Amino acid sequence: MSGEIEIKRIPKLNLGRFPTPMYELARLGGALGRRILVKRDDLSGVSTGGNKVRKLEYLLYDAVDQGADIVLTTGGAQSNHAMLTAACCNMLCLEAMLVLKGRGVMGRAGNLMIDELLGAEVRFVDTDSYGDVYAEMARIEDGLRAKGRRPYHIPVGGSVPLGTLGYVDCAREIFSDALEAGVKIDRIVCTAGSGGTMAGLLLGALLYGDGCRVTGVAVDDGPFEDVVAELVNGAAELLGRGDVHISASDADVYPCFGAGYARPSKAGLEAIRLAAKTEGLILDPVYTGKTMAGLVEMCGNGKIGAHETVVFLHSGGIASVFAIDPADIVE
Ligand SMILES: Cc1ncc(COP(=O)(O)O)c(C=O)c1O
Repeated sequence: MSGEIEIKRIPKLNLGRFPTPMYELARLGGALGRRILVKRDDLSGVSTGGNKVRKLEYLLYDAVDQGADIVLTTGGAQSNHAMLTAACCNMLCLEAMLVLKGRGVMGRAGNLMIDELLGAEVRFVDTDSYGDVYAEMARIEDGLRAKGRRPYHIPVGGSVPLGTLGYVDCAREIFSDALEAGVKIDRIVCTAGSGGTMAGLLLGALLYGDGCRVTGVAVDDGPFEDVVAELVNGAAELLGRGDVHISASDADVYPCFGAGYARPSKAGLEAIRLAAKTEGLILDPVYTGKTMAGLVEMCGNGKIGAHETVVFLHSGGIASVFAIDPADIVE
């Protein structure tokens, strides 16, 4: 990690258990012919864990600071982000309302089961489009305001510049742990779902990473390069580092979404089995399994060089294994 870097301190809450562990996956690395480490953000310490806790530490600080008494967010029916928002809100005695796309597994299983146990209010919108969901959220929020309530709105995945700062913190942890262990990290591989995690890691790598690359594996079809560049630049501004500015072509996105978002793929299932078999590490069919499939593919096709040391970010998602069978492959 390069010396002391000048950044503005942005206040956040302390909700998770950080730093999360980072260690080498020697058997998986042996199978792929690369040195692979894992950063266990699935062990972030709230509910079943996952990447959204770091983002929520910033976003919910802002909510409390603004005097909010109810937090609204969105995602798919099995959203990890929505579930973690409800869990973190409970820690702060804030109400949570989850306005979810009524698609996919909607029964009492996986994250929806946990949402119910957490006592979150869940509403479904019967649509494929976040435009429709946001219109419904705006209507609900107006109604709440008219009743004297103070709603706080978090967009899908918490992927706004403020939430992105959580993954600048994660990158800092990664490089600081690596320095202590005497390891030079060449690349971080993470999931790109709504883009904030990748953007935060990329900004963190630019600030602290000494040439380390960040590759986001896209688990959905979308203009991730544009989204990530916008988030990196927005987050850099918040940190008083407007001098760090990237364009879309600087965001390295590797597509591995198979038949589409939340549709289990053959490559994803094989990668889940490989991590489980070699390391006892459990990945999920929507995010981390496909990300591992991307990593396996990039080792095979040489995009990840033979001498690289790679950190795989385990960003959580375990609850969806109990709702979406990774072997239910959609071709
Ligand atoms: C388990 C898991 N991993 C990765 C991601 C992707 O993170 P981001 O939305 O910041 O791209 C998400 C959320 O979308 C997630 O729930």
